[in-house]
Amino acid sequence: MRKNFAVIGDPIEHSMSPIMHNDLFQFYGLDAEMKKIHIKKDFLQSGLSELRDMNMAGFNVTVPHKQAIIPFLDELDPLSKAIGAVNTVVCENGRWIGYNTDGEGYLKGLLKQLPDIKQRRTLIIGSGGAARGIYFTLAHYGVEQVDICNRTISKAKALKEACPYPVKTNIMEIALAEKTLGEYGLIIQTTSIGMSPKIDASPIQMSNVMEGAFVSDIIYNPLETKILKDAKAKGAITQNGIDMFVYQGALAFEKWQGVFPDTTRMRQNVLTQLG
Ligand code: ATR
Repeated sequence: MRKNFAVIGDPIEHSMSPIMHNDLFQFYGLDAEMKKIHIKKDFLQSGLSELRDMNMAGFNVTVPHKQAIIPFLDELDPLSKAIGAVNTVVCENGRWIGYNTDGEGYLKGLLKQLPDIKQRRTLIIGSGGAARGIYFTLAHYGVEQVDICNRTISKAKALKEACPYPVKTNIMEIALAEKTLGEYGLIIQTTSIGMSPKIDASPIQMSNVMEGAFVSDIIYNPLETKILKDAKAKGAITQNGIDMFVYQGALAFEKWQGVFPDTTRMRQNVLTQLG
């Protein structure tokens, strides 16, 4: 019997998840299909009850429902519970189980490029939902020091206080982070600044970045944001958000189908779509 999958969000038109997963279903000879389902921000409850009737095998959750969906789930895995957000749901005999593969997907993509992160002094820029998933996942993995800078200091402090895993963290203004940037071996950009169409914007000045530091941006459109261009010009090694997107999808696929898929194929597919 055909397995039905979906990605829900508002807006949903831009989502590349169906293209990525449908290609994998075909590649692995699986009778399955993923569709985009538009569930408007204020209509989550009714949208989900329609989804219950559609006999889903699983679905991805995107903005703005990642937090709001939690009360409608039957079970939550511990990391997604700590993060307070879900991007992947597995439906098993009518039970909906929530996971968060964003943070773990980020970590897997990062480890592929940089296997030695535990002792790298790390700076996260931003304190929104994406920062939360990445910060908690890095702390859970055992990175010793992860500092956070953000425009709104209170939000960065709240992130530090909410983290259930042991990690050393200094909170600072962006201006201070710009001065001390040379101390960091790993810098992670998690804000939406620099995303298409405002591609000339950067949340932070990169003039003090260390040569050989690793600078990672979760944005993948454009493929090279201003912060990555500036970092590269200073001799840093850079990574865009494609890996995070691919690996969050690969981990979701593994939870649904029991196989970890070919990420090189997924990456190529996404790059083709982005033109
Ligand atoms: P997401 O859930 O996708 O991470 P979010 O919760 O809206 O998105 O968080 C966006 C992040 O980008 C925050 O860290 C935000 O800073 P504030 O906490 O100060 O709002 C940051 N951000 C957004 N626009 C910004 C801007 N113009 N300048 C500096 N930081 C900005």
